[in-house]
Amino acid sequence: MNAAIFFQRHQNNRFVYIAKKLYIRLCLRNDAAKVKYLRNAGAKVGNNVHIGRIDQVGTEPCLVSIGDNVYFSGSETLLLTHDGGISHTYLMGIAPKRFDNFGRIRIGNNCFIGIRCIIMKGVTIGDNCIIGAGSVVTKDIPSGSVACGVPARVIETVETYYSKNKNNLDNTIGWNMYKKRKYLEEKYKV
Ligand SMILES: CC(C)(COP(=O)(O)OP(=O)(O)OC[C@H]1O[C@@H](n2cnc3c(N)ncnc32)[C@H](O)[C@@H]1OP(=O)(O)O)[C@@H](O)C(=O)NCCC(=O)NCCS
Repeated sequence: MNAAIFFQRHQNNRFVYIAKKLYIRLCLRNDAAKVKYLRNAGAKVGNNVHIGRIDQVGTEPCLVSIGDNVYFSGSETLLLTHDGGISHTYLMGIAPKRFDNFGRIRIGNNCFIGIRCIIMKGVTIGDNCIIGAGSVVTKDIPSGSVACGVPARVIETVETYYSKNKNNLDNTIGWNMYKKRKYLEEKYKV
């Protein structure tokens, strides 16, 4: 049995819960290890996926599919595959008992998910999409779109986004921080 399945089976055991936190922190230090863990936990994850933290994929990884070349900026974005609120309607005397309520989340190929987003259950983000920082994605986003806001709305195509910004781009990818600092101090006269 692999670690992901062991932790899922014994998730209510306090000691296993602590062991899981330690395992994730100490053993899953690169993208390849995180992706392997997520696949073992039931998620469908493509190749060349960057994810900050395993927990971002939520408590039901089997409902998540992520395509190839997907980049999650930072480590705060959350994929919410269930709605915890509905079980509280029991406590309010509305539902006859506590229920769960789940939905799938699908993210296509070549997507960039900006920092601190929330992606809600039932959402499909198509291929080649960019989701702006701090967005809450509640509805499907068609392929090739830039979407942002709360709730997220499509604001433009990825082609428009590129052509709008193309005259103010910097060729600094892969530079170290110091080289980048010198370049930016020069460019912005700081
Ligand atoms: C969404 C995004 C891709 C749009 O880029 P852009 O089109 O070049 O942005 P613009 O500044 O021209 O903004 C276009 C409109 O969207 C709004 N907007 C931009 N980013 C937004 C965001 N994250 N949330 C809500 N609205 C946003 C702007 O206010 C503007 O609105 P207006 O037309 O009413 O004035 C970009 O702003 C963004 O959020 N990128 C991700 C940032 C990030 O996570 N960085 C982490 C570093 S790895």
